[in-house]
Amino acid sequence: MLFLTTTALFFAQYALLAAALPPTRRQATAPAQYTANPKIGGGGSTFRESAHFRVYNTTSLSIADSTLKFLEAAHQCFVEELGWRTPGLSIKTGGVGKEVGPWYKLNVYAVPPSFMPGAAGQQGTDGNAGLAYLNVVHEYVGNAAVVVHEFGHAMHYSEENWVNQGRTGAWWEPIANFIADLYVATPTCEKAKSAAGLSTNGNTDINLQKVIGDSYQVIVDGMGDTANYYQSWPFLSYITNNPDNYSGLGKSILLDMIRKYKINSNDTPLHSLSNLLSGDVTIQKVVGRYWARMAFVDIGHAKAAAAFTAQRKNLKYANLDNNGNGKYTVKSARAPRYMGSNIIPLKTTASTVSVTITSSGTYTATFAVKGSSATRYVNLAGGTGSVTVASGEEVMLVIANTPALVQYDPFSISSDVNKGMSYSIQLTGATA
Ligand SMILES: *[C@@H]1O[C@H](CO)[C@@H](O)[C@H](O)[C@H]1NC(C)=O
Ligand SMILES: *[C@@H]1O[C@H](CO)[C@@H](O)[C@H](O)[C@H]1NC(C)=O
Repeated sequence: MLFLTTTALFFAQYALLAAALPPTRRQATAPAQYTANPKIGGGGSTFRESAHFRVYNTTSLSIADSTLKFLEAAHQCFVEELGWRTPGLSIKTGGVGKEVGPWYKLNVYAVPPSFMPGAAGQQGTDGNAGLAYLNVVHEYVGNAAVVVHEFGHAMHYSEENWVNQGRTGAWWEPIANFIADLYVATPTCEKAKSAAGLSTNGNTDINLQKVIGDSYQVIVDGMGDTANYYQSWPFLSYITNNPDNYSGLGKSILLDMIRKYKINSNDTPLHSLSNLLSGDVTIQKVVGRYWARMAFVDIGHAKAAAAFTAQRKNLKYANLDNNGNGKYTVKSARAPRYMGSNIIPLKTTASTVSVTITSSGTYTATFAVKGSSATRYVNLAGGTGSVTVASGEEVMLVIANTPALVQYDPFSISSDVNKGMSYSIQLTGATA
């Protein structure tokens, strides 16, 4: 409530200010060097700085210098090239496209582990100033994955629309992990990293044990020890890379989800995504195909696909009970929950594999068929279908629970939303 009041007041003031200013001042250009602002996060006397950042309190200045180098590359990649709003701008000085400045350097503080037990980094906020800052435990200040994750939070905060929207809360972590993964493990920031003389050979930290091994969970679930929200970023990777060429998805989809969010609606991010889709590309189709592509991690992410090849034999796939004669029933503990799925590897016994699915739920089912080069996808409309499998091809059956969207808070999922969808299948030409 306090936030809403402050925002409303601020907009009233801003409207006056904007009317009184000449147009050039209303949309100023960012300076090459942002201004230092030691008031944000506490300041200090020991720091190094670059055009857009200050790094305080590291154990050595050379650590600060190397952090500044990769932060500047991240700034170049995400702010200059991909168009994220810079954390150098306050959320109180103009929205996207009508920035008035001033532009401040983002402060990063190296802190002892006791500062935040169990965490490597943390994004702090000066709510009055509308500016973020970062705290990073000494050991991780040189770790680009950790620091760029926190930088991702700071950009997300600067974008403002998802601030104080409870149902978007748990998505802050997959978004920050996605930003870090884009930076470290994909070609997205290669140009900026190369220009800064940085290595472009980082590894992905995709957690397949969780994303595939526990794919039955609610797609973003922030609850307790079994939560899967930090790990759920491959969904963002899929909708950004858009390997299915679905209209609406693509390179700017995440920014669109934030910028075109219904202001103060407290909608879930899936609602925001759904509003950007059109025609026969529904949110159910997008989620269903995401899971189908996770069968072989075919989401336009080379390092994630390589991680799957390396780890697949250790992943957990025990989703079904075998009732004999090709009939199987999902184990109740692994029945797919809201927008979750089961990925079921099949052993083919004939050249045609057929399935009939029986369920009272609403689901999207797909055969993922991997050949030596490409993987193809066969939609199982109405829960039934077949595919002809060539020698050397491998098949997985993917069943995603894709009902109508519901408003839910991933930190407090109701038993209804967390309820598994039971189903049984009849297979011919393969065993599960
Ligand atoms: C950084 O060091 C200064 C002393 O230079 C200290 O006052 C400040 O609390 C430190 N900041 C953090 C976040 O630890
Ligand atoms: C999507 O478009 C790209 C580029 O045109 C193409 O290479 C790819 O095969 C398309 N994918 C699908 C699934 O149609």
